[in-house]
Formats: sequence, structure tokens, C-alpha cells
Amino acid sequence: MTQKTPAVMITKEEINKKVSELGKQLANKYRDLDPVIICPLKGSFVFTADLVRAMDIQCEIEFMIVSSYGSGTVSSGSINIKKDIEKDIKGRHIIIAEDIIDTGNTLFALKNMLLEREPASVSICTLLDKPSRRTADIKSDYSLFVIPDKFVVGYGMDADEKYRQLPYIGVF
Ligand code: IMP
Ligand code: MG
Repeated sequence: MTQKTPAVMITKEEINKKVSELGKQLANKYRDLDPVIICPLKGSFVFTADLVRAMDIQCEIEFMIVSSYGSGTVSSGSINIKKDIEKDIKGRHIIIAEDIIDTGNTLFALKNMLLEREPASVSICTLLDKPSRRTADIKSDYSLFVIPDKFVVGYGMDADEKYRQLPYIGVF
């Protein structure tokens, strides 16, 4: 099986440095708050795994599988939940750890859906941010790298389910 090798856009060292910094920042903010980290699968599994290991505090981790139905300009309801979290998050502090915010539709719908469950707070961390593509009225509280409108793979992200295992962010 042969595959094209994508060019490096962001090295594993650059990712590691930023993820470590964010982990420390979150640890300071959420110490003693016992936050729930939500990992929307599959693209965020590597980012979440590295982020929680960079946060030297007590936390819980939950996984979801969601997809958006497009326009994030109206309120929630526009999200398809294939796998929900198993925890009651009422009164809890939520951190969504997402791979990339593109149009913003997914995070817009996900955040609104979670807010209906009355958590104490919801913040959004994204590894990558493509601001030029945004159509939904949502912003990321912490985004580690702002990138141009290019399709990227690696560090959890796929092209047709391939390349998730790459330790860097690649582009074709
Ligand atoms: P949004 O709803 O348009 O913000 O899209 C979010 C989802 O699309 C992300 O969570 C990714 O799973 C996927 N996505 C967007 N851009 C890329 C990319 O460049 N590479 C891989 N997946 C992407
Ligand atoms: Mg994703």
C-alpha cells in the first residue's frame, strides 16, 4: 500500500510546545474545579490525549461522536449525536478539546447543546483555527495555531480515514 506523504505544516515539536503551554494554563484555571474534558471523536483523540497529560490536575474525560447539519446561525438542534457522553454535566466545568474550528458549525451546535444541560461553564480549545472559513457565530477560547484555508491531516485528523497517525500537521 503506497500513500503520498504530506508536507509538514506544523512540526511535532511546535505542537508539543503549544499543547504543553495550554495544559499549564488550563491547570491553573481549573485546579480544584474537577473539569470534564470532552473529546469529539475521531479527529480530536490525539490532541485530547496530549492535552490531558499536560494538565497536571484532576479531571474527567468523555467522548462524543457528533456531526453538524450545516448553518450555525440559528440555535441548537442542528447537531447529529452518534455517541453522547454518559455523564450528567449539570454544574460541571466543561472543556471541549476539538481538533479544528473551520466553519464553526460543529462547535456552535455542540456548545449550545451542552449549555442546555446547565453546566457551570463551557470553554472551547481548538488545536487549529481556520478563521477565513467561519460562518457560525462562535469563537474558540483557546486556539493554538491559526492556519490558512488548506485541508490538513495528521495528529488525529484524516483524509478519508487515513493519516491520523502522523505526529505532525501535514498538508498536500
Ligand atoms: P466545522 O463544523 O466546519 O467547523 O468543521 C469541523 C470539523 O471538520 C472538524 O472537527 C474536523 O473534523 C473537520 N475538518 C475541518 N477542516 C479539516 C481539515 O483541514 N482537515 C481535517 N478535518 C477537517
Ligand atoms: Mg472534529
